[in-house]
Amino acid sequence: MIDLKNVGKKYGTTTAVNDLSLEVKTGEICVLIGPSGCGKTTTLKMINRLIEPSSGQILIDGRDSSSLKPFELRRGIGYAIQSVGLFPHLTVFENIAVVPKLLGWQKPKIQARVMELLELIGLDPNRYADAYPKALSGGQAQRVGVARALAADPKVLLFDEPFGAVDPLTRERLQNEFLGLQQRLKKTVVFVTHDIDEAIKLSDRIAIMKDGKLEQYATPEQMLEQPANAFVRDFIGADRGLKRLARVFVRDVMRPSAGVKLEDQNLRTSSVFVVDSGGVLRGWLDPKVSAAQDAFSAHQWQDISVFENTNVREALSRMISLGFQVLPVVNGAGVLKGELSLEQAMSAKGNL
Ligand SMILES: Nc1ncnc2c1ncn2[C@@H]1O[C@H](COP(=O)(O)OP(=O)(O)OP(=O)(O)O)[C@@H](O)[C@H]1O
Ligand SMILES: [Mg+2]
Repeated sequence: MIDLKNVGKKYGTTTAVNDLSLEVKTGEICVLIGPSGCGKTTTLKMINRLIEPSSGQILIDGRDSSSLKPFELRRGIGYAIQSVGLFPHLTVFENIAVVPKLLGWQKPKIQARVMELLELIGLDPNRYADAYPKALSGGQAQRVGVARALAADPKVLLFDEPFGAVDPLTRERLQNEFLGLQQRLKKTVVFVTHDIDEAIKLSDRIAIMKDGKLEQYATPEQMLEQPANAFVRDFIGADRGLKRLARVFVRDVMRPSAGVKLEDQNLRTSSVFVVDSGGVLRGWLDPKVSAAQDAFSAHQWQDISVFENTNVREALSRMISLGFQVLPVVNGAGVLKGELSLEQAMSAKGNL
């Protein structure tokens, strides 16, 4: 657990952080959000003592961080930042190996760990281990930044807008990968962003700041339902109901769908989705075309479906971009598991 008690930071007459008290539970993601200059980065850097607080106390698992040597403290804390901060003259391998090397790990252990992390973040070690950062795309570089933060298996991760510098599609993918990783790794995470949608999607709790002060600390559901004041309400913005759909998953609202078999010749059916003998989605039927064989439109399942763990907000935008009223839901192998209608998706919106 990370426990900030009345923490403050002053630069001359500027108060960057003002009497901030915040408790981040073990295994949870706390997202710090607020307008530029509100003190997010300063707060983050006080946790690993890249910046020393002017007042207050920070406890990490009950231990006062000021009683630890900064080096010792940072050993247990992974840190990743927006501009990634990869060393340009080191390869991907060497970048990820920085902290393990500092800790004096033996070579075979470092080798195994870096390979494991490259697999974990979905970069082919054969292709990328010896590449230099300039040969990476923005999204790949961000992944390496995350891998580097994870290298020594720290309990705590501090992320400062780690996905800020990539295009929206890549960002969505990185966010999903991060959530998948977190499900397995259960780190205690403090994550800075100024993107409210990112905050709602990723957080267990959101801490919203203004002028160095905490305005509200709550789960995204609570914050969407009951913004503490006008500032928080304005910051969250319009469409609170739609935003809440990022917290509901397709599996919670979908209905079963059998699909019609590709080899079935007398296709008249309640389903519009067509599957092969293994149950893998192969396309859909246009209900307006009466001869079933002519109505069949073949597609790669990846292009027309969502997963059970896709959030409903993303499913909705997929529905709109595809122009479907009903979306097929598949598992990781493309097997049809159900379907999601527009009405079902909207019903999850609640009364906001
Ligand atoms: N070294 C410094 N000297 C003086 N003032 C500073 C220093 N570092 C930060 N500040 C001030 O402290 C305040 C908080 O800065 P901080 O970097 O924490 O904001 P932030 O919320 O991370 O903003 P952004 O979203 O733009 O990254 C700002 O007013 C900033 O100008
Ligand atoms: Mg900042």
